[in-house]
Amino acid sequence: MRLVPYFAAVASAIFALLVSASPIESVKRQSTYVGYLISTFSDANPAVQLYLSNGNSPTSFSKLNRGNAVLTSSVGTRGVRDIFLASNSARTQFYMIATDLDINASGFSWDRATRQGSRGIVVWKSSNLVDWSGPTLATVEGATAGLDRIRYATTKDFATFSSPRDYVAPSGTPVIDQEFQYLGTSSHYARFIKNETVNQVYQEMTTGGLFGSWTRVPGYVVSGSPWEGPASFADNAAAGRYYLLLDNYSQYVPFQTSNINSPSWSAAGTSGFPSGLKHGCVTPVTQTEYNALLARYPR
Ligand SMILES: *[C@@H]1O[C@H](CO)[C@@H](O)[C@H](O)[C@H]1NC(C)=O
Ligand SMILES: *[C@@H]1O[C@H](CO)[C@@H](O)[C@H](O)[C@H]1NC(C)=O
Ligand SMILES: *[C@@H]1O[C@H](CO)[C@@H](O)[C@H](O)[C@H]1NC(C)=O
Repeated sequence: MRLVPYFAAVASAIFALLVSASPIESVKRQSTYVGYLISTFSDANPAVQLYLSNGNSPTSFSKLNRGNAVLTSSVGTRGVRDIFLASNSARTQFYMIATDLDINASGFSWDRATRQGSRGIVVWKSSNLVDWSGPTLATVEGATAGLDRIRYATTKDFATFSSPRDYVAPSGTPVIDQEFQYLGTSSHYARFIKNETVNQVYQEMTTGGLFGSWTRVPGYVVSGSPWEGPASFADNAAAGRYYLLLDNYSQYVPFQTSNINSPSWSAAGTSGFPSGLKHGCVTPVTQTEYNALLARYPR
């Protein structure tokens, strides 16, 4: 579960923090939720695609909108990647945000994207997850962004942003794709970051809030490589169980643990897990939200 309203971008590795009067930690009790929504994209169709859980299963999902994208960008490069759904604590305002980047554009190169980055995010707004504004392009980063480090900016409305600053920039290691997981106790978080040198994801823990000190969980979350685009979420029903989706360049593979403080991430069931999902996020949904999504965007 990543109710925390952040945004993590691809090569430019910036994220935005929604500064709100209500603290991001005042999440509803897990039992409020009856399912999960995955917001994602695909290389073949760089637009926002939604998958809804079959009942309250954390590993069984169906694509919504009869297989079609739900939100398509008509701004910037017109391609979006690395989707994140942010909300305020009251769940009355949602922001679907994504990196403005079309890797199929003529002249595109990962090398250039890594050095210069995508400076913009595409933003859609909704009060109910089904009535969405048109897309707007917000240019967050300066012209020299894209340095393979995690950057952050703060915002209240995803329209105006503070000047971006470095957040995680270990010397000698290019890092991208950061994910936060709130652990249910004030100021307690896990975060997941990709080491670009080894194409593996590592985990860090804090009890001091996002700008407190973080402790590395030794090694990497799972063996093998490549892994990137971590998306984590808490189980709606089983207290203390967490899931981690890792993108192996072609699709997400699900993992789980029941001890996130000293985890041994193991493969989660994949029989109902769709193939082809890329870097995205998982959001728990209420019954009202679940019903509205199914009604507007049938499977
Ligand atoms: C973009 O490029 C990818 C990888 O080469 C390819 O799979 C995909 O079909 C292309 N998408 C479009 C819209 O051209
Ligand atoms: C990333 O991997 C390289 C190669 O193993 C290693 O030297 C470096 O310390 C790692 N950095 C982090 C932050 O894991
Ligand atoms: C990614 O994972 C899927 C599902 O486990 C597997 O079929 C595929 O071969 C993997 N791809 C790569 C590039 O490792």
